[in-house]
Amino acid sequence: MAHITTLSEFIIEREKDFPFASGDLSQLLTSIRLAAKLVNREVNKAGLVTEILGEANAHNIQGEKQQKLDVYANDRFIAAMRNQGAVCAVASEENDEHIVFDNPASLDGKYVVAMDPLDGSSNIDVNVSIGTIFSIYRRLDPEKVTLDDFLQPGNQQVAAGYVVYGSSTMLVYTTGNGVNGFTLDPSIGVFCLSHPNMQIPANGNIYSVNEGNYFEFPENVRNYIDGCKKKKMSARYIGSLVADFHRNLLKGGIYMYPGTKDKPNGKLRLLYEANPLAMVIEQAGGSATDGTTRILDLQPTELHQRCPLFIGSSAMVEEVMKG
Ligand code: AHG
Ligand code: MN
Ligand code: MN
Repeated sequence: MAHITTLSEFIIEREKDFPFASGDLSQLLTSIRLAAKLVNREVNKAGLVTEILGEANAHNIQGEKQQKLDVYANDRFIAAMRNQGAVCAVASEENDEHIVFDNPASLDGKYVVAMDPLDGSSNIDVNVSIGTIFSIYRRLDPEKVTLDDFLQPGNQQVAAGYVVYGSSTMLVYTTGNGVNGFTLDPSIGVFCLSHPNMQIPANGNIYSVNEGNYFEFPENVRNYIDGCKKKKMSARYIGSLVADFHRNLLKGGIYMYPGTKDKPNGKLRLLYEANPLAMVIEQAGGSATDGTTRILDLQPTELHQRCPLFIGSSAMVEEVMKG
C-alpha cells in the first residue's frame, strides 16, 4: 500500500526545512487542525440540530443555549489557540476588537491570528459548503500586543490557509513555500495529504460573481462579465467565498467581489478574507487585487476594513483590470 502522509507528519517534516524554527508555528497549525475537526463534526450535525431538535436558540441537554455555528466555530478556534501557547492574540470577524490572551501559556506567544471562523454563514442552514479562513503574523513587540500587530500588510503573513467543509472536508495552507491540501478521512479523523503543491491554471473558464449587483459594478467589471458571456464561460457562484475560491483554485477561474456605488469597498474583509486567500493564490501561481493595488500590499488601517476583491487565475485577473 502506498504511504499516506498525514498533516501532522507533514508539519513535522516541513519544520526541518527551517533550521531555527522553534516549533511554535507547528503547534499553531496543530491547534487549527484540532479546531477544524471539531467544527467539522458540528457542521455535519447542523441539519439535525435545526430541523429535528429545534431552532438554533433552543437549549441543549445540559441546559446551555445552543450556539449558532459561527459562534461555535469562533469559540472553538479561539480556545484551541489559547490553550497551546504559540498565539498571544486573535482578531476575528465575530469580535468587535482583538482578544489578547492573558493566560500564562500565551503571554510569550510569538504569533497573532486573524480569522473568519465561519465563512458563508448564509449557507449553513441549507447544506451548502462553508469554510474557515486564517491568517498568521509574527507579533511586532515581545513586550506588548497592540492593534498594530494586526494592521500589518498581507505581505507580512507567515502562513495562511482555509478549511472547506464540503462534500469532503479539506484543510489547505501555505507557509510561503507552496500550497498543500489535506483531506479529512472521517473514519480515522486524520487529515491526509491529497493535493500536494497546488497550482492554479494561468487561465480558466469559470467566473464567480454575484451578478445580481451587475448594474452597480464599475464599467470595466461589467465589460469583463459581458465578455465572459460572449465566450460562453461557466458562471459559478456558491456564495461561500472559501468554496468558490477552492473550486477556482483547482479548475482555473476568477472570483470577483467589486465595490459598488453604495459600497465602494465591497463586502469582503481585508484581514480575514482577502489577505489570507491572496497569500494562498499567489503561492499557487495566481493573483489578487482590489482593482488597482495588489491585495498583499494594501496597508490596513482598521480591523474590520473591507476591500474589493478580484482573485484567481493570473491572466483573468489581469484582463478584468484592463476592462
Ligand atoms: P461571511 O459568512 O463570513 O459573512 O462571508 C460571506 C461572504 C462570502 O463568503 C461570500 O462570497 C459573500 O459573502 C457572498 O455575498 P453576497 O451574498 O453579497 O453575494
Ligand atoms: Mn466570510
Ligand atoms: Mn464569517
